[in-house]
Amino acid sequence: MADRWTPDSWRTRLIVQVPDYPDAGKLADVEKQLATFPPLVFAGEARNLKKALAKVAAGEAFLLQGGDCAESFEEHSANNIRDFFRVFLQMAVVMTFAAASPVVKVGRIAGQFAKPRSSPTEKRGDVELPSYRGDIINDNAFTAEARTPDPVRQLMAYRQSAATLNLLRAFATGGYANLANAHQWMLGFVKDSPQSKRYQDLADRLTAALEFMRACGIDPESHPELRTTDFYISHEALLLGYEQAMTRVDSTSGDWYSTSGHMLWIGDRTRQPDHAHLEYCRGIKNPLGIKCGPSSTPDGLLRLIDTLNSDNEPGRITLICRMGADKVSDLLPPLIRAVEREKRIVVWSCDPMHGNTVTSASGYKTRPFDLILREVKNFFAVHAAEGTYAGGVHLEMTGTNVTECTGGARAITDAELTDRYHTFCDPRLNADQAIELAFLLAELLKAERATKVRPLAAVSGL
Ligand code: PEP
Ligand code: CO
Repeated sequence: MADRWTPDSWRTRLIVQVPDYPDAGKLADVEKQLATFPPLVFAGEARNLKKALAKVAAGEAFLLQGGDCAESFEEHSANNIRDFFRVFLQMAVVMTFAAASPVVKVGRIAGQFAKPRSSPTEKRGDVELPSYRGDIINDNAFTAEARTPDPVRQLMAYRQSAATLNLLRAFATGGYANLANAHQWMLGFVKDSPQSKRYQDLADRLTAALEFMRACGIDPESHPELRTTDFYISHEALLLGYEQAMTRVDSTSGDWYSTSGHMLWIGDRTRQPDHAHLEYCRGIKNPLGIKCGPSSTPDGLLRLIDTLNSDNEPGRITLICRMGADKVSDLLPPLIRAVEREKRIVVWSCDPMHGNTVTSASGYKTRPFDLILREVKNFFAVHAAEGTYAGGVHLEMTGTNVTECTGGARAITDAELTDRYHTFCDPRLNADQAIELAFLLAELLKAERATKVRPLAAVSGL
């Protein structure tokens, strides 16, 4: 692994989860074209995110990362982006205010298109076709034509990412995210939900705090941090030809950066130490996530961390743990102990989604909300016992009123899954469930900070 790195050095490595493009010439043309397109993000922004994540690693902030399992071309609309951003802001405000903790906001959005699959093909009756691998690669319809990987879809995904990011940037800085609007972020369907009263109470207290601050001379007009927010984008670095085309040298530092997103992560199925995905990611300077699943071992994990972060740079590595509600208490401590023993600086984040997927009686792929909550609680409990900091969550969620995960305060049943099951891939939390989870997170975080954050007097030496 110590060989010279180039944006295409991954091409000499073993690789899994690669689509079978029938026309290599057409693929090369598309990649060449992508390489001439403007970057979606700047190196300086990726560095800012890394600094923010360094604070998370130090226990001074919390990472909220979430969005679709897979974005789709069909669901690309201003309303969907707004609804997602709004519920994300609501979650962040609940955690910031109720737990008095800064929240680093990272969407799984504006580039989260490519999906790893457990099988390269899907069989229905006698017909066997390539599996759907995400809209950047092929189409979900079960026909030979739709399932054939088409490189032109990469251009469509790039353009959709650019348009999505443009709107997100406008929301984040153009006034929508102003804390004075916290009441207006109330979603239509959340209004009459069990979370509504809780959220309104919190927004009332927030408004009172803002009024007090205004009286002291601190208001959103004079303090941009009250009316804007930092919002970052992230996705799985899976389709490496696309990633390579978006890899550029930063003119200020001379370093290579992915410009397809601020943060990229390596999936649970593509983290083999000598393989292509590790090779690509080790050369870019963006903050990186590593998914840690039940097959992660302490030595294996240390090897990955060493490959990706030999300088032990704070904020570079986020470990996204997705063990499953009943396994996390046994499987996480050995990983934490190894990382602590070797003094590796990481953010510990909990993905309570991917280890808790079940098939409902009605045949839907779903996730019981209880299991999601249980994994989050167990994750915090393990960190409390180990004396380490539970620093973030990684969620699959949407701002719309889907019925994909069972349970929650509205108690979505197996039978109701059929009502609004819209995902092309994994089941997502709906806005109601996401806000319910945010309140739980705020409680856990508050308790965690009460034991870990030193009183101000101790910090300032007063
Ligand atoms: C995902 O995050 O959508 C995913 C496929 O996760 P994992 O790699 O952890 O299975
Ligand atoms: Co998923």
